[in-house]
Amino acid sequence: MQVINNNSTETMENHSISNKKKQNIIILGIESSCDDTSAAIIKDGVILSNVIASQKVHEEFGGVVPELASRAHQQNIIPVVDRAIVRAGISKSEITAVAFTRGPGLLGSLLVGTSFAKAFALGSGISLIEVNHLQAHVLALFIKEKEMVQNAPEFPFLCLLVSGGNSQIIHVHDYLHMEVIGQTIDDAAGEAFDKCAKVMGLPYPGGPHVDRLAQQGDPEKFVFAKPRIPDLNYSFSGLKTSFLYFLRDKLKENENFIEENTADLCASLQHTIIDILLNKLRKASKQTGIKEIAVAGGVSANSGLRNALAVNAKKHQWNLFIPNIEYTMDNAAMIAITGYYKYLNNEFAEQSIVPFARTQL
Ligand code: KG4
Repeated sequence: MQVINNNSTETMENHSISNKKKQNIIILGIESSCDDTSAAIIKDGVILSNVIASQKVHEEFGGVVPELASRAHQQNIIPVVDRAIVRAGISKSEITAVAFTRGPGLLGSLLVGTSFAKAFALGSGISLIEVNHLQAHVLALFIKEKEMVQNAPEFPFLCLLVSGGNSQIIHVHDYLHMEVIGQTIDDAAGEAFDKCAKVMGLPYPGGPHVDRLAQQGDPEKFVFAKPRIPDLNYSFSGLKTSFLYFLRDKLKENENFIEENTADLCASLQHTIIDILLNKLRKASKQTGIKEIAVAGGVSANSGLRNALAVNAKKHQWNLFIPNIEYTMDNAAMIAITGYYKYLNNEFAEQSIVPFARTQL
């Protein structure tokens, strides 16, 4: 089990964020871990702007090309930050600190955001805050749309973090104290969506296309392999292989099989992924006795997953929290809110800091 805590010298007492001045703290958040360049402004935990420039350049390759992603970040970063500041209606000089994604992610992409944030902090004479991208996905639940309005889980809660690179169940003790109690041993849920979608000839990223097409299909039409993994861990590589072999065999009998069954294939695939995810989430809730349940990460935009979570919440008396869809995908608002809590907790980074492609939670 791992604990999210980037500062090994800090003590548990430091996690109770209480005594620092909490007014007029304006955080600029920068996200560049993969193929979205994003900048956001958060004031005292309330979102003022969240600008995201997605990179269309990868579509024709069926996946993110790291070299192209870095170049696109380099082109996008200044206009995106500029727009975020303008939209927030603040001036650059009002920014208290700049928070950036240190990792995990593509190193070349992370370097663009990290270098920009360091230069911005140095040039403006403000604090620099490093953010773990995964921790930020969880803290997206705490972004306030308006002052005083917050519908966020109470500590401790369980968070199902499902994105393109991760599938984890996290025991969240506090804003900056999180424990991974289950995780994938191979592919992530988002990868399973994307890779299976690619086999069906759907555009990248496939998750949203599968979601859309699944709405017209029969989730029980086809049955795919489910993993038998101990504890609270996940595995999705078997499902991907099972899907691939199933299609290969069917295509031998009928070369139009995919076109004729796309909706049912998508619905059955999505149904299987959701079943795998919820099985372990229920087990985690039972084991820990925690009924405060949240979901985060790009895959949490999936309508089938949201419905299944709502059904489970009713059945098992969970208090369910799902972030605003805008904050489920990679975005800088989640980086800024994490920066805000780290600022309150006096967790700052040095100018010598470097990004990590694989950081631990
Ligand atoms: O969190 P995210 O934006 O990036 C990472 O940090 O990985 O997640 C991206 C993933 C992709 O795999 C994408 O296909 C998936 O989230 N995704 C979806 C949906 N929207 C995005 N998967 C299923 N259904 C969706 N509606």
